[in-house]
Amino acid sequence: NGVLRKWTGETSKVYSSIFTDEGNGLERKVIGTIPNMQEQNAFEALDAAYAAYDYGRGEWPTMKVEDRINCVENFAKMMVETRDEVVKLLMWEIGKDYASSCKEFDRTVEYIYDTIEDLKKSDREDSNLKKHSGIYAQIRRGPLGVVLCMGPYNYPLNETFCLLIPALIMGNTTVFKPAKYGVLLLSPLLDAFQKCFPKGVVNLIYGRGRVLATPIMKTGKVDVLALIGNSKSANALQHLHPKQNRLRLVLGLEAKNPAIVLPDCDLDLAVQECLLGSLSYNGQRCTALKVLFVHQDIIEEFNKKYVKALSQLKYGLPWEEGVKLTPLPEAGKPAYIHELIDDAVANGAKVINENGGEVVESFVFPAVMYPVNEKMRVYHEEQFGPIVPIVAFDDVSSPLDYVSESNYGQQVSLFSESANTLAPLIDMLVNQVCRVNINSQCQRGPDVFPFVGRKDSAVSTLSVHDAIRSFSIRTLVAFKGT
Ligand code: G3H
Repeated sequence: NGVLRKWTGETSKVYSSIFTDEGNGLERKVIGTIPNMQEQNAFEALDAAYAAYDYGRGEWPTMKVEDRINCVENFAKMMVETRDEVVKLLMWEIGKDYASSCKEFDRTVEYIYDTIEDLKKSDREDSNLKKHSGIYAQIRRGPLGVVLCMGPYNYPLNETFCLLIPALIMGNTTVFKPAKYGVLLLSPLLDAFQKCFPKGVVNLIYGRGRVLATPIMKTGKVDVLALIGNSKSANALQHLHPKQNRLRLVLGLEAKNPAIVLPDCDLDLAVQECLLGSLSYNGQRCTALKVLFVHQDIIEEFNKKYVKALSQLKYGLPWEEGVKLTPLPEAGKPAYIHELIDDAVANGAKVINENGGEVVESFVFPAVMYPVNEKMRVYHEEQFGPIVPIVAFDDVSSPLDYVSESNYGQQVSLFSESANTLAPLIDMLVNQVCRVNINSQCQRGPDVFPFVGRKDSAVSTLSVHDAIRSFSIRTLVAFKGT
């Protein structure tokens, strides 16, 4: 609501993921500043959202569904105009390659239009009168209240808007806090937010979770915690709410998705899928393959082919043609990757690719570790970066046990050419995770499909169709009749 433009308080520098030489030697470039908001600003944002909701009596929650749809559609139209600028910022801020940055932008716009279409259809179906046992009822979908919406740095548009847009379109009001990286890219969208939504409906706050999200959760005025990020933050925030049983959760959390590569697979296909699955966007995806279990009969061949294919992956600056491996936005990530490498080496693994783990400016060349076992941190931790643990197995019960005993339950990739091999594994795995990928890497898309996880990987389901339901409640208008 214009606060950002009038900001006179302290600001924080936003650094790029890319090193440049501005005369001081190579270092991360300052590409902008953002308001350094304090607790008081978070309360103001919350109060604005709370007042705009006004116990469901505000302008936005009482607006006709078709009018809210028009507002969201206008937002999508204005958003399209910002494509070039946002894509450029995606590359500079979070180091996402050009093709993936364009894809993230386009799929987000598509998600908004798909949400509109799905809501129109659901609304038509819901408004038909239902009759049972002499009672007629019309179903309406009502909003839930104030949504605190927090997104991750790796998909600052797609993964944030898949929470924010369904929350808004269903009549909720929002306080929206982006992650530490990938914040400037929201600035080209500020006009669209301001012009398309009434005052108090979208309230953007910048800063640290501990300073901003913690105090507002304690007020009890947040009705929905919608967060894509890590379970530690989600748990901490959830438990601050004074009436936890009233808080609805929509959470997309971490995962440690394994690939299970069986001896009867198409090896070249398995290598290619495992390579892109583990290292697209440097492995910084919740859906990335984070551990590769390969049958011991084919492991030597697999490792040779994997390392060769990796050496052909192009690394460079995000806008360079065909680049796949790019600079990392998180300043602490190279040191963390090296902790994992050192720990695995101390426990008997080796880096099996040339230059694996080499750090140049903010690039970390992927480290392929073999043989990895349960004594190593990289076997258990969600590395979210360019390190690939490979584990040899003899009996498939060993990777299956890994899945069952894991704290996470998002996806698995299975590689085999035999339906007889695959069928019993699929039957077992559908009760352990939420998506079994056959001869392909793990991934979220297409975004109309349910995106969900078991255990510490998710709460509630995202997809165009499910998200509308996650951010609303069915209410009935009922009467007696014959
Ligand atoms: O970080 C999690 C994202 O939802 C991954 O989406 O599988 O399309 O890369 P993706």
